[in-house]
Amino acid sequence: MKIGVFDSGYGGLTILKDIRNRLPQYDYLYLGDNARNPYGTRSFEIVYEFTLQAVKALFERGCRLVILACNTASAKALRTIQQNDLPKIDSSKRVLGVIRPTVEIIPKLTSSKHIGILGTPGTVKSNSYALEIEKIAPEMTLTQHACPMWVPLVENNEFDSEGADYFVEKELRSLMSADPKIDTIILGCTHYPLLLPKIKKYIPDHINVVCQGPIVAESLADYLRRHPEIESNLTKGGSVTYLTTEHTEKFDSLASVFLESSINSDTISLAH
Ligand code: DGL
Repeated sequence: MKIGVFDSGYGGLTILKDIRNRLPQYDYLYLGDNARNPYGTRSFEIVYEFTLQAVKALFERGCRLVILACNTASAKALRTIQQNDLPKIDSSKRVLGVIRPTVEIIPKLTSSKHIGILGTPGTVKSNSYALEIEKIAPEMTLTQHACPMWVPLVENNEFDSEGADYFVEKELRSLMSADPKIDTIILGCTHYPLLLPKIKKYIPDHINVVCQGPIVAESLADYLRRHPEIESNLTKGGSVTYLTTEHTEKFDSLASVFLESSINSDTISLAH
């Protein structure tokens, strides 16, 4: 069986890349719901419905474990899927998110204990990061800031343009003026690492910018060590298959830029 990696679009590829670097032996199935992206401005109900459809599609195609490589889906759908849907679908399957592993590492990253979280409007509104941090490190001062234009910039291949500079600088200025003591910025949206060169341009060098890929990869490696009953079911062919809800031509050309190698995807439909 495979490991499924799901995102609303291209952002999850930043996570998949790091997972495959850390755990190259497994077989992966990536699904991007590019046709219905962005999720970050959608309601809880819709993000839950779309995410559940995606998880079911990955299970039907042979995944034992699905990583929601999307903060918005992790914030709005993960808990309900784990608690209500998985027992009905197949209690031997697993769905994991990206917020908890990120939050667990935050106390190790900051000296000032002032953290900035950048995310989609949906992730920020859900308050998931604040709720999780409150449980494990209540001494942290957290400033969350939504960047509504950043995902469309990435999905539309504008992440390297001058227009992107405007929106990147604008949001970083708002974040830093809300709390000048911030020494660590978490990119709490899996699309944002694609804007990293621009992000670094607009913040002082002493600020640590954290991408989630390596954190999620390490957390998955640890999870598989602790769950041999799941690990032993995973096939080890080192393959990756890509699925998108958009046209394959568009997905393949942009995904190949992000992954720095050419890929061939298949289109699937999620709406029933
Ligand atoms: N990449 C997703 C995340 O990590 C969200 C992108 C979107 O708005 O669809 O939150």
